[in-house]
Amino acid sequence: MTGRRKIIVLPDAEALALAAAERLIARIDRDSKPVAVCLTGGSTPIRLYQLLGGIFRSRIPWPRVHWFMGDERFVPQSNPLSNMGAARRIFLHDCAPPKNIHAIDTDTKTPDIAAIAYEQELRIFQKSRDKQPLFDLVLMGAGPDGHTASLFPNSSAIDEEEKWVVGVANANVEPFVPRVSLTLPALESTHEILFMACGGDKRDILNRIFNDERLPAARAHAIAGETVWLVDEAAAPPSLHR
Ligand code: 6PG
Repeated sequence: MTGRRKIIVLPDAEALALAAAERLIARIDRDSKPVAVCLTGGSTPIRLYQLLGGIFRSRIPWPRVHWFMGDERFVPQSNPLSNMGAARRIFLHDCAPPKNIHAIDTDTKTPDIAAIAYEQELRIFQKSRDKQPLFDLVLMGAGPDGHTASLFPNSSAIDEEEKWVVGVANANVEPFVPRVSLTLPALESTHEILFMACGGDKRDILNRIFNDERLPAARAHAIAGETVWLVDEAAAPPSLHR
């Protein structure tokens, strides 16, 4: 445990995806109420999504789980770059009731308009949550520059305090398409944030994040519970190696 975050080191990417699936299911099993899970984009969660639609499928009470997305690339959902498009293809399409899939609508004219519409959807959903935080579990990743969701270092979006969703005109890293991103007030409104990071190319940035440099991924903490980092051995900075 370093400060407010718990770091768990797993042997490899497969063990990490299995651990993430088990945590997600444990979170769902805490009670029998509707559950809100905020998914993440990027390549790291893909194995987790395959497991959820595969060997874990029968352990998920699909009718009571709602799926959101923490950030989206401003492309049609049929585009391979779309985060919700990927999650749908890998598992949601086959497993989740369509009304439980809360995608960011990227058919709007601009990312700002998409952000306003998604924020409205989140606020309506939050009202049904009976004073609970917005989400039960928020999955997140960390980029090579320390971004998380589409909150990039040195962008105004990372300091947003009022809006829950914003349009992001420029991405710091590939793919260089405009984005729509939840902000810290929305992402942190959860019982648990679960970061996932794998591979040696993440080691340097994780070292900086775990030393609490003022990077977006270092700043996200669940307000109503735990912030957990699952990292594989290749990504773990030397201080975490036994
Ligand atoms: C996105 C993301 C982004 C991602 C990190 C890590 O849409 O790109 O949501 O924040 O989680 O960049 O991505 P990888 O898992 O591909 O390393």
